[in-house]
Amino acid sequence: MSADPPLPVVVLISGEGTNLQALIDAIRDDVADYAIAAVFSDRANARGLERARNAGIPAHHVDPNSYSSREAFDRALADAICYYEPGLLVLAGFMRILGPGFVARFADRMLNIHPSLLPKFKGLHTHRRALAAAETEHGATVHFVTAELDGGPAVIQYRIRVRESETEDSLSARVQQGEYIILPRAVGLFAEGRLRLESGRAILDGEALRTPMRVDGD
Ligand code: GRF
Repeated sequence: MSADPPLPVVVLISGEGTNLQALIDAIRDDVADYAIAAVFSDRANARGLERARNAGIPAHHVDPNSYSSREAFDRALADAICYYEPGLLVLAGFMRILGPGFVARFADRMLNIHPSLLPKFKGLHTHRRALAAAETEHGATVHFVTAELDGGPAVIQYRIRVRESETEDSLSARVQQGEYIILPRAVGLFAEGRLRLESGRAILDGEALRTPMRVDGD
């Protein structure tokens, strides 16, 4: 661990916040060195807000219905986030699409966790779609956020083999276990200064990642 102050990270959530919990636990367990400066949710009843408060982290609800347009919401959210001067923004189950103006404000310092092996299955209902497509492998990806939805450079992937008896629920639960590994790992690498986005490419330890790092699950 370095003697420098840990990188301030702001986390955006919409729901349960189990990925947020994994980020909080990784600091507690000393496996990663960053500080969660604040958590924002677009949903008032997101359980993740409670998880943040339990950990002593400022937690805010920004209500999209209070704004006349998507752009106005994006601006208000970005302004509120900037108060915390984050070095990194993490989308951890944030279920709203952020517009290009928002993305440009946090260019090069925004990571997202997506429940599929990108570029496969961008968007919603990824587990259902992977089963319908009879995929033999499935998983989750942490990637840098760019203006293209779920399209920014991939950093790390968790992969599992799809079982014969698999259901959407079982697959989702198995993939989530891997999300809790790869998200803190990617955030930790960014906070250490080992991972960055440069000219549209993910760079790890000074080398462009040709393929995302890989963690295989059971
Ligand atoms: C995660 O599976 C994430 O990949 C998806 O939404 C889920 C969020 O879960 N986009 P949680 O709020 O972190 O528990």
